[in-house]
Amino acid sequence: MKRVGIIGIGTYVPDQIVTNIDLESKIDTNDEWIRTRTGIEERRIAGEEMDTSHMAILAAKRALENASLQAEDIDMILVATATPDHPFPSVACMVQEALGVMNIPAMDVSAACSGFIYAMATAKPFIETDTYKNVLVIGSEKFTKTLDWEDRTTCVLFGDGAGAVILSEVSSDRGILSVDLGADGSGADYLYIDSETGKIKMNGREVYKFAVRQMPESSLHVVDKAGLKKEDVDFLIPHQANIRIIDAARERLGLDKEKVSTTVTKHGNTSAASIPLALFSEIENGLIHEGDVIVMVGFGGGLTWGSICLKWGK
Ligand code: UT7
Repeated sequence: MKRVGIIGIGTYVPDQIVTNIDLESKIDTNDEWIRTRTGIEERRIAGEEMDTSHMAILAAKRALENASLQAEDIDMILVATATPDHPFPSVACMVQEALGVMNIPAMDVSAACSGFIYAMATAKPFIETDTYKNVLVIGSEKFTKTLDWEDRTTCVLFGDGAGAVILSEVSSDRGILSVDLGADGSGADYLYIDSETGKIKMNGREVYKFAVRQMPESSLHVVDKAGLKKEDVDFLIPHQANIRIIDAARERLGLDKEKVSTTVTKHGNTSAASIPLALFSEIENGLIHEGDVIVMVGFGGGLTWGSICLKWGK
């Protein structure tokens, strides 16, 4: 069986930075509450002209460049998103059109904030079985279009952005070692986009309880499935929703703070884009090294969760 790994990565975040202080003048909130309850300091907000597909396309082009590939080298496009431009066509088809690669399969993956992990897991067997060589996997969200600016319990939490990776065959001692996916539809009412208003609704307490339980569980499970111990993990890239949830996962894995990504401070919660955005930031920071064992773990609406354990490098 071929080993599947990340051979290129690219991201896009909008230029407009909105700080907690900026929000203080708009809604009944304050910087101290947001920082202490969530860790968020600022988020990026896309303008009118920039929808989910536009951010996905920009991130995809950067990932292709990073992998030294041309668009025509891509054999399949998967986009994880909860905020597509339209119910259909998929964002993936819009990316395909923009990249000018015709006749390859393209579809969106819907698993809310776990979507990027689900999409990577979906791509993996196509490469392992030689069905496709290079798969473009994108997480892209314009979550701010779903926000009700009257609801302070949700509107301070989210931001916009996109991250893309190219998955391909890598050497036999690198790449994805194990995958853990799961869902519990009985928690569907805790986090959803209302189909009438198009706005997000969340029971923060219940999602919080689910996340602090499930994120460490899934991380430990995926490490075990890889035949490793938690001590073998070099870096954790968790879904970026709340620093307290991230800390709970970090403590269960027994990792030092320097070994865990916390980009939630500058991006807020970007849903399916948060994991590739965090991964890219840590690569840029020089914290991800060849041969490192990395666990990426997400949770979100559905309720869903998912994690991937991989050995970094080609
Ligand atoms: O990607 C998955 C998406 N979602 C999540 O991961 C969210 C998971 N949940 C959470 O992160 C947390 O539950 C929140 C950050 C959403 C909320 O934190 P909390 O510690 O559970 O706060 P709470 O909902 O219990 O609210 C505490 C207080 C309330 O006031 P009272 O009733 O105690 O007087 C809220 O009205 O904080 C108040 N509050 C705010 N105050 C200032 C809620 N939102 C705000 C706000 N600014 N933005």
